[in-house]
Amino acid sequence: MAKKRPSNWDGGTDGNDRSDEAIDDEPESWEIEGNRPEDQYTHPAEYWTAEAIARLLKAKGQARIQHELAIKALNNLSAQFPGILEIEGSGPVAIDIGCGLGFASDVLVDAGFTAVGIDIINDMLLLSSKREAVAENGKRGRYHRVLASATSMPLRSGVFDIATSISALQWLNTAGAMQSFASELDRVASPRCAITFQHYPRSSDQMMELGTTIKQHGFEGGILVENVKNPRKRKIFLLARKRAEPTS
Ligand SMILES: C[S@@+](CC[C@H](N)C(=O)[O-])C[C@H]1O[C@@H](n2cnc3c(N)ncnc32)[C@H](O)[C@@H]1O
Repeated sequence: MAKKRPSNWDGGTDGNDRSDEAIDDEPESWEIEGNRPEDQYTHPAEYWTAEAIARLLKAKGQARIQHELAIKALNNLSAQFPGILEIEGSGPVAIDIGCGLGFASDVLVDAGFTAVGIDIINDMLLLSSKREAVAENGKRGRYHRVLASATSMPLRSGVFDIATSISALQWLNTAGAMQSFASELDRVASPRCAITFQHYPRSSDQMMELGTTIKQHGFEGGILVENVKNPRKRKIFLLARKRAEPTS
């Protein structure tokens, strides 16, 4: 099978083999039809009410999908930057942005990270405690949850070896929110930090806007689009790592 090939944010190629699933050099333009929750509500808590979160907690399909997407996000990252997950030293630390009920965060802990999940909805974090994995990983000191927006993270600078986000960043759908997020990401990232974000942007333009904004804040990498022509199956992964500081 041909390797999937992320495009870079300038629309060039990274030299890998072509794949039908990967985005073209001139990224194909697309836009989602109809209104999604992210377009209808200003704050995610208006959509994710306590009742909706309680339903989510019981939805087996959602758990499986988030778990699979998180594994894919890590696999895609390590395929793009071989060895990037083999972090030297003890206690690599990960952040899961928009951690929700923590299905994706479980994968980070299983992969050997101490994980911090950050979410803007209090009920998400409260109800996530009902999940055995979250409670158990919390007790072992391997999972910590923080109530805050990704645009203003109450976290120390330069800490995280990896940042992940699964099915959340579509909520950051304004230029201002993207700028604040990218600036915070740059601040909390360690000098070797790698990021893998799966999200559902409204359009190819919005997809590129987030990539470009993150690039402006010290990262290099690209965007991988699977099934670009099929809106139901389309999957987008932003894969990048901290750019090395030039040595003087
Ligand atoms: C579909 S859920 C993510 C599910 C999660 N990946 C899991 O495995 O359970 C999207 C999450 O993004 C969070 N979110 C949206 N905007 C956010 C922001 N600005 N900062 C932090 N979290 C945010 C929402 O509160 C919601 O919990």
